[in-house]
Amino acid sequence: MYSQTVCCVFLWTLLIGYSQQITYKICATEKVASTHTCQLLQKGNSQVECVRVLDSVDCALKLASGDVDFGVFNAEEALVASRFINEDVVIIGQTRHRTRLSEPFAFQSVAVVRKNFTGEFDELRGKKYCHPGFNTNQYWTDRVLKEFERRVVPHGCTSWVPQVRVEMFALSEFFGDSCRPGPWTPEQNFDEKLKKDYASMCRLCDNPHPTVCSYNSQDFGSHQEALDCLTQKDADVTYVALNYVHDYFGLKGSGGLHKSEEAPKASAFPGDYKFLCPNKTVQPLDTDQPCAWIRQPWNAVIARKTNNIASTLRDLLPQWLPEIQFRKEGVNWQSILYRVIQRQDRDLTYVPAQAPLNTLVEYVGKGNSSKFCTCSSFDEFFKHFILAC
Ligand SMILES: *[C@@H]1O[C@H](CO)[C@@H](O)[C@H](O)[C@H]1NC(C)=O
Ligand SMILES: *[C@@H]1O[C@H](CO)[C@@H](O)[C@H](O)[C@H]1NC(C)=O
Ligand SMILES: *[C@@H]1O[C@H](CO)[C@@H](O)[C@H](O)[C@H]1NC(C)=O
Repeated sequence: MYSQTVCCVFLWTLLIGYSQQITYKICATEKVASTHTCQLLQKGNSQVECVRVLDSVDCALKLASGDVDFGVFNAEEALVASRFINEDVVIIGQTRHRTRLSEPFAFQSVAVVRKNFTGEFDELRGKKYCHPGFNTNQYWTDRVLKEFERRVVPHGCTSWVPQVRVEMFALSEFFGDSCRPGPWTPEQNFDEKLKKDYASMCRLCDNPHPTVCSYNSQDFGSHQEALDCLTQKDADVTYVALNYVHDYFGLKGSGGLHKSEEAPKASAFPGDYKFLCPNKTVQPLDTDQPCAWIRQPWNAVIARKTNNIASTLRDLLPQWLPEIQFRKEGVNWQSILYRVIQRQDRDLTYVPAQAPLNTLVEYVGKGNSSKFCTCSSFDEFFKHFILAC
């Protein structure tokens, strides 16, 4: 008995000694964590260190090879990573907006049409389309921003014409006067040329000039103004985030930004509009279960499974992070880690995953991102893995 106890104490000491030595390696791009930030992360009794990665593909590859232990991925990055590291990793947590902790999705995109539409996409031919706009700073990526268009106005691929031109040609042939603000392509001269060639896609904007092409605020990524465009410019369809629809039409909904019991004041009569669903049906705006075009999961914290790293980190992260979640300042390693996990969005809060832990495929599947065919890379990230037509 005595020897057993001694043995156990000895082992226990050994284990504790051992676990104190472990440092876990987190992926850090230059954008999310500067070299200085990484140095701060390693200060004191830190159990985490940075591993510099170029992008999330690099992070995924390093997870697969065991060079890093965990990293933070958005839904699209996870979608691509799931193609080659699904078996090696699990989701140990998410970061959710602090005011929307109970919401399962970061956002849902919906299409709103006038009430006389029955759901056939062809009814939208020649109709006025209001898009929230393109902006590299907004939380909707190209994949999300183009989901509606790509399903309603499918277009082919050519190798001799830039894809963006094919896209804009198809859209301008299909829709009538519309507002699709913001840069269609990063190269400014080419963007202006396209906006001259497909002028109808800016004509409904407050400023339709090819060098401007925007709503009044010039704030690209404006869902509010896309809804104004729909209701005040006699337009027919818009594609925006669900929470804005709830707010705009004074509806209470799980996606609404308003947390109060009161429904917000309506800017337009909800009975005049409907949701257009991807399966070519329509729903009233006050439905409990609006049909979304994309349901985007929150950012996921992903860890590799080897040596119980994932389950250990799942238990450790809430211990490291809780007391600093809402503190702005802080220089201890835990608060630096928290910043890296937030990926620059100070409003995000860490939420540990429920056991059993999900795989990447399960996580991305929850969002049901459609698997459309594309010819070009969606963004920086997809350049590595172009999904061929
Ligand atoms: C719905 O009504 C508007 C305006 O009255 C009209 O322009 C449009 O063609 C109608 N749409 C359908 C699908 O009937
Ligand atoms: C279309 O989608 C909506 C919302 O997801 C669903 O309620 C409806 O049953 C579907 N209809 C058909 C015909 O598939
Ligand atoms: C996701 O897609 C599958 C198959 O297409 C469908 O059965 C399921 O209901 C969808 N889930 C959501 C949340 O839309």
